Amino acid sequence: MSSEWVEWHRGYAPGQPLTRRLQVVQARIREALDSRPPGTIRVISICAGDGRDLLGVLATHPRARDVRARLVEITPALLEAGRETAIRDGLTGVEWRLEDASTTTAYVGATPADLLLVCGVFGNITDEDIRNTIHLLPELCARAAMVIWTRGRFEPDLTPTIRGWFPEAGFAEVSFVTIPGTTMSVGTHRLAIEGRPFLPGIRLFTFLPYEERPSTLAKNRKGRPSRAPPSATPPSRPRRPRGTR
Ligand SMILES: C[S@@+](CC[C@H](N)C(=O)[O-])C[C@H]1O[C@@H](n2cnc3c(N)ncnc32)[C@H](O)[C@@H]1O
Repeated sequence: MSSEWVEWHRGYAPGQPLTRRLQVVQARIREALDSRPPGTIRVISICAGDGRDLLGVLATHPRARDVRARLVEITPALLEAGRETAIRDGLTGVEWRLEDASTTTAYVGATPADLLLVCGVFGNITDEDIRNTIHLLPELCARAAMVIWTRGRFEPDLTPTIRGWFPEAGFAEVSFVTIPGTTMSVGTHRLAIEGRPFLPGIRLFTFLPYEERPSTLAKNRKGRPSRAPPSATPPSRPRRPRGTR
């Protein structure tokens, strides 16, 4: 079975930009797990894909047995691939949900989370929805929860604004890493206020249709030549010598 998102995951090939992004995300996940006190660590992955960011870390992390993770993903083939990886690696604390990740209902029973992954989401929703999601994240978060997020820095680069929305919502920035030679970036924020009570049924965002996504619009702009190609310019008339008709 193939789909747009199965294709997208093929970008995780050795040396590819997405793989370099993955390395940064996984380093941040490792640090977040290392920093949690003894006991259960709750993790939520919003639009998890095949979950390789988290699963790849859990495969070798000493706190893996403490992790209770909810991975929410809507593409069945990706979820199945991730589920198989989790079973292969004996990750019994990983729970997959094949459902819409865009409302808080998907996270009933998985909160308050100590670590939230919002990777590959912000390039596919409106600016307003990014802000709305960030402002609602404290309802999913435990005290000092970490949020790891990604966003392309394609023009107009929204990441400075996003980095401003996190403090507005009560988060402190831990790091912001750009991936050299790409527009990709990975942000990490820690909740600096008390988490807020969780409420189901609240819309966080709407995943946009392909042609309306900021990431698609950026790709299309990049593909468009900056000036008209030679064939599109009217051929210039040969100059007649003065005085001739
Ligand atoms: C850009 S990929 C990111 C996957 C993963 N987080 C990563 O960074 O590797 C976006 C993912 O969102 C999933 N998705 C899209 N709309 C969704 C929705 N409403 N609910 C859950 N998942 C959704 C897609 O199937 C896809 O796997």
